[in-house]
Amino acid sequence: MTKSQAIGVFDSGIGGLTVVKAIESLLPHEQIIYVGDTQHMPYGDKSPEHIKAYCKRIVEFLLTKDVKMIVIACNTASSVAASYLRSTFWEQVEIMGVIRPAILSIIEKKYKKIGIIGTQGTIQSNIYPTLFQEYHSDIELFQLATPLLAPMIEQGFYGNKVSKAVLEEYLKNDQFQDKEAILLACTHYPLIKNEVATYFNHTKDILDNAEPMANAIKKYLYDKNLLSETKLNENQFYVTEYTQNFEETSKIFHGSTIHIEAIDIHHEF
Ligand code: DGL
Repeated sequence: MTKSQAIGVFDSGIGGLTVVKAIESLLPHEQIIYVGDTQHMPYGDKSPEHIKAYCKRIVEFLLTKDVKMIVIACNTASSVAASYLRSTFWEQVEIMGVIRPAILSIIEKKYKKIGIIGTQGTIQSNIYPTLFQEYHSDIELFQLATPLLAPMIEQGFYGNKVSKAVLEEYLKNDQFQDKEAILLACTHYPLIKNEVATYFNHTKDILDNAEPMANAIKKYLYDKNLLSETKLNENQFYVTEYTQNFEETSKIFHGSTIHIEAIDIHHEF
């Protein structure tokens, strides 16, 4: 591996651009090659077997781009496919998921009680309670699947009366009320961070995976002496199914206009 190779990043859709944004601001010299699996979005209600198969194809595509590491910018895929992908590709590339970095940052911040919202796939996998236990954390946590949120946000549908009502329906759960912080355990959710904060009258910290993930990438690349010193090539963005309003919606996630190309992950690369 060399410093000038790109970082591969993927998600089920364009939600993972929230992670790209965090990587870009912490590591501006890195080139990023992004894949959003819009053809199969949402991952949240798919079986682990299907998600593993989609992710395998995406990793194979990113390997054709000669990336120096791969980031799974999706909680659902990190929950159900990260171990499988690591054991399949361990000889070729380092693959990091978004979950451990978020857990370690929560433990470091010494929270005692947190709430977690995520897709059905993430919550059902029980990955957060399992990993907190693995780190011997005695944190009290309550997690809730909020399956309507990611598809709604992917469509750019938030910040309005209907999305507010959907969010309230989930957040009114008694178990959230005494928590110090809420983890938005889905890379689509940073877009509704303000709405969640407002719902709780700004009395809770609202956390997400993006910044801890960017810090973990920086540490890994630094340890391996792989941090890029100058940005030689522009970022590349791919989706597996192109829809017209796509560049418009991705502007919301990413903050600036990006050029997106379509790829077919079911064909040979
Ligand atoms: N962004 C994905 C995550 O972090 C989920 C959205 C989906 O269901 O595809 O879990």
